[in-house]
Amino acid sequence: MTLLRKSLRFFAVQCRNCASKSSPNVEFTASTVDIDGRKFNRDKWTNVNPNILKYLNRNLHLKPGHPLCLLRENIISFMYKSFPNHAGNPIFSVFDRLNPIVTTKQNFDSLLIPQDHPSRTLSDCYYLNKDFILRGHTSSHQEELIASGLDSFVVMGDVYRRDEIDASHFPVFHQAEGVRLFAKHQLHDIDKEKVELFENGKRTPHKQEHHTELTSDKLQHELKTCLTKLVHHLFGNDVETRWTETYFPFTHPSFELEVKFQDKWLELLGCGVIEQQILYNAGVPDKVGWAFGLGLERIAMRLYEIPDIRLFWSNDSGFLSQFQGATPNQKITYKSVSQYPQCFNDVSFWLPEGGINSSDVYEIVRGVGGDIVEQVRLVDEFLHPKTKKRSQCFRIIYRHMERTLTQAEVGKVHERIKAQLAADLGVTLR
Ligand code: PHE
Repeated sequence: MTLLRKSLRFFAVQCRNCASKSSPNVEFTASTVDIDGRKFNRDKWTNVNPNILKYLNRNLHLKPGHPLCLLRENIISFMYKSFPNHAGNPIFSVFDRLNPIVTTKQNFDSLLIPQDHPSRTLSDCYYLNKDFILRGHTSSHQEELIASGLDSFVVMGDVYRRDEIDASHFPVFHQAEGVRLFAKHQLHDIDKEKVELFENGKRTPHKQEHHTELTSDKLQHELKTCLTKLVHHLFGNDVETRWTETYFPFTHPSFELEVKFQDKWLELLGCGVIEQQILYNAGVPDKVGWAFGLGLERIAMRLYEIPDIRLFWSNDSGFLSQFQGATPNQKITYKSVSQYPQCFNDVSFWLPEGGINSSDVYEIVRGVGGDIVEQVRLVDEFLHPKTKKRSQCFRIIYRHMERTLTQAEVGKVHERIKAQLAADLGVTLR
C-alpha cells in the first residue's frame, strides 16, 4: 500500500501575539479545567494545578533581551546560515509559538512511545485529561509538521515535566528541536553512486531494517556534523565534546552529545536517525531524516554562567537588565544579584550649557555609592519649550548583598551622590 502525504494544508497554527499575552485565564470547576476559554473535561488522569498553568503564557524564549530569547536567536541564526538553498535563502522554517497544550497522541503515540513507557506516567507529566497534556518535549510536533509537508524545521518552546525544584531542575523548561529530511538525491550522489535509500534488511545497533548501511552512515554523519558545529558556534572551538549511544523510541540509532565543563561531562542534547515508521505514518515514505532536541536552559546556564535555573523566571530587573540590549552572540557573564530587596531613588537635574556625558554620571554614582549601587539608568529626558533647557532624570537602584537597606540610609548616600553630580558636572538639581 502506498501512503500518500496527508495534506499540504498547514494546520500548525502559530499564535501571533502570544509573546505579549499575560498569564492565562484559568478556572477549575468540579468537572472541567478551563484555560483561556477552552474547556478540558477532568478525569482520573487530570493532574495539572493552577501553579503550573500560570507558566503557560510566559514565553521566556520570546521575551526580548531574555537570555533564553538571545539563545533562541543565536541557534536560529546558526541554522539559517548553515543551511542555505541554492538561492542563498535558509531552508529551515522556525516554529516558536506552537501551543504547548498537545494531545497525548502527539506527545507519545506519534513518536512510537510504547503504552507502558515510564515517560507516560502521571508522576512524570502534567495531564489535562487522558487525551491532553502539557507537552513534555518539542518532539510532540514532529509528525504533524512532517505530515504538513515540511522537510527542514526547528521548533522551540516551553516543555513541562513533573520534577523536583532545585538549582538545576524546574518543572518548566525550554527546548529546541531540529528535523531535517532528505530525498534520495539529497543524501546520495545518484550520478556517481549506485545506491538506494532503502532495503529490506536487518536492524542492527548501527541502522534500521529499512535503511541501507550507507543511508544510515550518511544521516549520522550529517547530523553529527551539524550539531558539533552548533556547539562550537555557541561555546567556541576549544570546547571538548563526545558522543555517547543511547535509546529513544523515535530514533535509531540514537545519540547524546556531551560537552566538558569544569572537568565534568554534561549531556547537552539527544538526537538520532528518525524511525522510518514515523515518516510512513506522516505520509512521507520516500524520505529519510534526522532529528535532535536540546535543552535551552542547560546551554544558557553555561554560556552566561547563570548558577540557578530559577533565575530565568525572575522578574527582577537586577537579573533582566544584565541581558537587555545584548546581541545573540555577545559574551555576557552573569553577576549574581542579592536576594535582598531593591530600593530606588531618582535624581533629576538641568544640564549645563554644552550638555554632559551619561557615562560621567554612571561613574560618579558608582564612585560615591560603591557596592550598594546595582543599576543606574536614564529614565526620562525633557526639553523646556521656552528656556530650551534640557533636563534629565536618572534612576539609581540600590541593593545590598547581605541585608535589607533602609530608605533612611539609602537617602543619605543618595544626597551625597546628588551633591557630587552638581559639583563635578555643573548640573542644576531640580
Ligand atoms: N525529545 C527528546 C527529549 O526530550 C530529545 C530528542 C529529540 C531525541 C529528537 C532524539 C530526537 O529528551
